[in-house]
Amino acid sequence: MTSAETPRRLVGRTALVTAAGQGIGRAIAERLAAEGAEVHASDRNADLLGDLAVASTTALDATDGAAVAAYAARFDRVDVLVHAVGYVHHGNIEACSPEDWRRSMTISLDSAYIVLGAVIPQMKAQGGSVITIASVASSIKGFPNRAAYGAAKGGVIGLTKACAADYLTQKIRFNAVCPGTVESPSLRDRIAGLAETLGSSEAALKYFIDRQPAGRFGEASEIAALCAFLASDDSKFITGQAINIDGGITI
Ligand SMILES: NC(=O)c1ccc[n+]([C@@H]2O[C@H](COP(=O)([O-])OP(=O)(O)OC[C@H]3O[C@@H](n4cnc5c(N)ncnc54)[C@H](O)[C@@H]3O)[C@@H](O)[C@H]2O)c1
Repeated sequence: MTSAETPRRLVGRTALVTAAGQGIGRAIAERLAAEGAEVHASDRNADLLGDLAVASTTALDATDGAAVAAYAARFDRVDVLVHAVGYVHHGNIEACSPEDWRRSMTISLDSAYIVLGAVIPQMKAQGGSVITIASVASSIKGFPNRAAYGAAKGGVIGLTKACAADYLTQKIRFNAVCPGTVESPSLRDRIAGLAETLGSSEAALKYFIDRQPAGRFGEASEIAALCAFLASDDSKFITGQAINIDGGITI
């Protein structure tokens, strides 16, 4: 979709996006802004936020409860929250140390508990849309070497659905977006890491692309377009869903 065709469904809405420094989170912040939202973007790494053209950018570690609470308190109202923070540990359960497990849970799952819990009070008066970025590697489908990641993202889906049930009458919708493999800086890191094990970057690339029935990676802009739909009133009858966007993995 060219920018000339981008709808303006979010004019007048205040949107918070976490992990907006790069990859999927950044594309979401840009898309919500293009649709007219007042976007407040945060990321743990401030260096990645410098050239993001949104209403505000803030260095924020989403696992820091006190910092997230102080950040959320800045806003009188929030209409849209997209929580995109996640961390991929590569390994099966035997290769997952207690430290790996705790890091996975802290970054991918605890952060969702912290951020959603801090922002929901700013949505109660007028309602809103909360979108968590989960993964098809979760309760949706098992993948090799995604023990901790799959467990954490399955937890994100469960939390999202529970919140959808709890806040339905307050007109806050909650949906989990579950991507397949998406082109991003961290994916390139994972491919480089696997290349060391498999002996070549071609073999590592093939491993990841072979998981995709569509024969290609998703684009961050494709995930962002789904999030913009879920943020907008076009999706106002959709809540409590885990929505796969995966190039056919879960056919
Ligand atoms: N890329 C994929 O193939 C893919 C597939 C399915 C789901 N996801 C999920 O999508 C989300 C974004 O993934 P990506 O690959 O685009 O991103 P990425 O890994 O390339 O970037 C992640 C961003 O999150 C920030 N971040 C990390 N920890 C943080 C914290 N504690 N607080 C705040 N910011 C933090 C990083 O600084 C970085 O800017 C993640 O939740 C990931 O699990 C990604």
